[in-house]
Amino acid sequence: MSQSRAEERLRILVTAGPTRERIDPVRYLSNRSSGRMGYAIAEAAVELGHEVVLVSGPTARAVPDGVDYVGVESAEDMYQAVERRIGRMEVCIMAAAVSDYRPARPAGQKIKKLRDTLTLELVKTPDILGSARGPMRFSGLLVGFAAETENVAFHAREKLVRKDCDLVAANDVSRSDIGFDAPRNELLLLFRDGREQLLECDAKEHLARRLVAICLAEYRAKVARTEANRGPTE
Ligand code: CTP
Repeated sequence: MSQSRAEERLRILVTAGPTRERIDPVRYLSNRSSGRMGYAIAEAAVELGHEVVLVSGPTARAVPDGVDYVGVESAEDMYQAVERRIGRMEVCIMAAAVSDYRPARPAGQKIKKLRDTLTLELVKTPDILGSARGPMRFSGLLVGFAAETENVAFHAREKLVRKDCDLVAANDVSRSDIGFDAPRNELLLLFRDGREQLLECDAKEHLARRLVAICLAEYRAKVARTEANRGPTE
């Protein structure tokens, strides 16, 4: 990160959409994410002239013009795609609804309906956002999302700390009018220094533009702090 680069075209990585975790060749575990929020974020960042890599699980959305698109299926695929690219990024916004678990042993052939019950053993998927700082050594601005159904601010702040984010955008997924698979959303932004900001209910495209502007301002502030801490150089 450098002061001059902060004023220039930034490299921004966005994750979006659901992931699909294979059960057998024709079935998978997934979730209701439409990808709309992540795609709107990618589009807003491109419109402002930044270089955007969009790592996305399968969605029905059109890829925004000017975005470097990387299509993935599973959480493991997404992890690898992010790991490969994050080193060159200044800002990383992880809006994907990554499956937390995957079948432990995906079947090679279609599972036949031979028994009355079927038990799937699930194992945890890698936490992509939670690996950005440690294993992936990302030092730029790290932004996560938090999908919560209760005590939204409390759980989101816990995620911010646990995953070492600069900013977490929390949404209440218990509400049917906003969030997953809906055109509108409401975001409670939690910043590392304790600030909170509510982005009131609005179209995801409008929220995305406001969020990207806030992320860019936060990135610039972070660069300025880093420079100030380093002190004057000859
Ligand atoms: N995330 C990720 N990799 C995972 C799970 C989540 O990168 N395997 C990211 C999401 O993209 C999001 C953030 O972590 O930015 C929080 O996702 P969320 O589903 O709200 O939280 P989890 O970490 O899965 O925790 P929990 O399900 O216990 O609430």
